Amino acid sequence: MGKQVDVVVAGGGGFIGGHLVGALLEEGLTVRAVDIKPRHAWHQLHEAAENVTADLSLLEHARAAVRGARQVYMLAADMGGMGFIENNKAACMLSVLISTHMLKAAHEEGVERYFYSSSACVYAAGKQTDPDVTALREEDAYPAQAEDGYGWEKLFSERMCRHFTEDYGLVTRVARYHNVYGPHGTWTGGREKAPAAVCRKVAEAALSGDHRIEIWGDGRQTRSFMYIDDCLHGTRMIMDGDSGVPVNLGSSELVSINQLVDLVEQIAGIRCERRYRLDAPQGVRGRNSDNTLIRELYGWEPSIPLIDGLERTYAWVYDQVKRAHQ
Ligand code: NAD
Ligand code: GDD
Repeated sequence: MGKQVDVVVAGGGGFIGGHLVGALLEEGLTVRAVDIKPRHAWHQLHEAAENVTADLSLLEHARAAVRGARQVYMLAADMGGMGFIENNKAACMLSVLISTHMLKAAHEEGVERYFYSSSACVYAAGKQTDPDVTALREEDAYPAQAEDGYGWEKLFSERMCRHFTEDYGLVTRVARYHNVYGPHGTWTGGREKAPAAVCRKVAEAALSGDHRIEIWGDGRQTRSFMYIDDCLHGTRMIMDGDSGVPVNLGSSELVSINQLVDLVEQIAGIRCERRYRLDAPQGVRGRNSDNTLIRELYGWEPSIPLIDGLERTYAWVYDQVKRAHQ
């Protein structure tokens, strides 16, 4: 570490980070990917990058990680889907050490541009109580009533970006990701989100012949899901853009969880018997992304249809399930 690189991807061993490292390398940039996990556990390992294992919650590691870099994409966090964030609030909030030390290190080491991956979980719970939801606009984060634990850390950390810009002149960019899915994501183990979890359950049903699957909640809660390619395009665009205000980066194609299951069943060519678990973690009742601001700023918004992204995701998850059962 310490040599000159164009870009550092913090959390490069994770789902979005792994895809982002690949995209940046394809553009011809030099990349340092940093993650706390040992390299064999990374979602994707790109040999052309400098791949480093380090704990970015430690200031010295954060300093070493960003040294010599022009730009930093800060994607590192201890996070997951509802099954994880509802039961690990302290761990989620401790990501503030990564966020804080990475910002401080980026400022001290003279980084030119800093991207922070915030979340739709910053939005006020009171605005997400109905499945027939009004899409969330950026100003709906305040007055603050974020998702307990994880959402508060994200809201605090995105605000810290603003103050590092105002007080120290560090150029920061913030995207509020709405539920991102795609191949090479977490699909099992407890941190997986609904798209990967549903793909896994339907794939297991298809392979085993036992078509009973478990769905968390009553299936009527709603979400929008953004395919990874849209996430990458938007992330690069926001990083290179002129606006430092937090902006939604999410699909506005609203579906219920039942509709998500319908689509995956359609792709798999099977029908499943659904058992609804009302005691499982459910999060907000309805959530969608209002894309007015991203359209105004960049003339673009995520647009890959859910069915298209799910086809690619299901094929990948199906292969993982098959391999795991061999
Ligand atoms: P991910 O869990 O796959 O990736 C995060 C990576 O950070 C992991 O590989 C993890 O090992 C690493 N990490 C955790 N603690 C670390 C530490 N102390 N030092 C170094 N690395 C550490 O998650 P993802 O889906 O790729 O998400 C990337 C970012 O986007 C996260 O900040 C997440 O909160 C945010 N986000 C993701 C979504 C989504 O739907 N995927 C939605 C909203 C926000
Ligand atoms: N994870 C999961 N697994 N969710 C399921 C399942 C399942 O098997 N079955 C049904 N669900 C339901 C959940 O109960 C929840 O109501 C909905 O599907 C969506 O769950 P997740 O995908 O886990 O999370 P989320 O959309 O509530 O929040 C996610 O997105 C945020 C950004 O929009 C999380 O990943 C957050 O960490 C992220 O910031």
